[in-house]
Amino acid sequence: MSVIENSKVTIVGAGSVGASAAYAALIRGSARHVALYDIATAKVEAEVLDLSHGTQFIGASEITGGSDISVVEGSHVVVITAGAKQKPGQTRIELAGVNAGILRTMMPQLLEVAPNAIYVIVTNPCDVLTVLAQEATGLPPERLFASGTVLDTSRLRWQLARRAGVSTSSVHAYIVGEHGDTEFPLWSRATIGTVPILDWVTPRGDRMTVEELDAIAVDVRDAAYKVIEGKGATNYAIGLSSARIIEAILGDQHAVLPVSPVLHDFHGVDGVALSVPCIVDASGAVPIRETRFDDRELDLFQNSAAALAEIAASLR
Ligand code: LAC
Repeated sequence: MSVIENSKVTIVGAGSVGASAAYAALIRGSARHVALYDIATAKVEAEVLDLSHGTQFIGASEITGGSDISVVEGSHVVVITAGAKQKPGQTRIELAGVNAGILRTMMPQLLEVAPNAIYVIVTNPCDVLTVLAQEATGLPPERLFASGTVLDTSRLRWQLARRAGVSTSSVHAYIVGEHGDTEFPLWSRATIGTVPILDWVTPRGDRMTVEELDAIAVDVRDAAYKVIEGKGATNYAIGLSSARIIEAILGDQHAVLPVSPVLHDFHGVDGVALSVPCIVDASGAVPIRETRFDDRELDLFQNSAAALAEIAASLR
């Protein structure tokens, strides 16, 4: 595996998600060069200055940015966070119209200066926007995908790890489908180490029940609403999730992550972007076709696809 030399990521959008993604990428050393681009000059310049002032403490990464599109030139990865954000009580889907417009204007401009980059869409509703952006640009599906349920999967593993009494990295469980209200865990494949989730004996000496796991899934699905209610936005965990995806690409890691490319003939889904476990490396994200779903999970997945296909169609 080869790591991309002089790797550069540009984060588009200097709001709280974009700034947190840049910060996470810097402190994790996800790229040699982190750039921040936004049309709001004063805001982006201030964020870049603030981040630059910490460079003594973060090793070798370089940070640049501004409101001129040339900031994006030479990027290996472009992470898009620009757009309207959810207000308390609002769903991600309700942002579709306004953010689709923003993305349609922005994508051709970005592609002109970074024609070979891998594009990661974080702006919500990220799955729907990925379909529209892919159609607008004609990029191959592996080169443009949504951050999807990488974050939701982290939320799930955090909860399961605490209950199971193990490290989050020992929980092997995935949230798949929409990054939003129709997402669900692939319980049929979830293990702690190699032990199926329902067989695991917790530090309390009991086992988790189906009802308890269902409640955890609901909690994970609704997690962002809770954070938005309290502080107006989510930013840190999505920033870290973005940095994790950037590393998988720039490090050519062949990492398994639940990102969301436009799927073709995947468990009956065609032309819709949904998160499924994918191999993520320097060429982008490719779904793992051998991922098994049980009958109930297949139903949920296809319902998720149908709901999103309808929304994408209404925006064409
Ligand atoms: C969240 C936003 C990023 O789930 O959709 O926190």
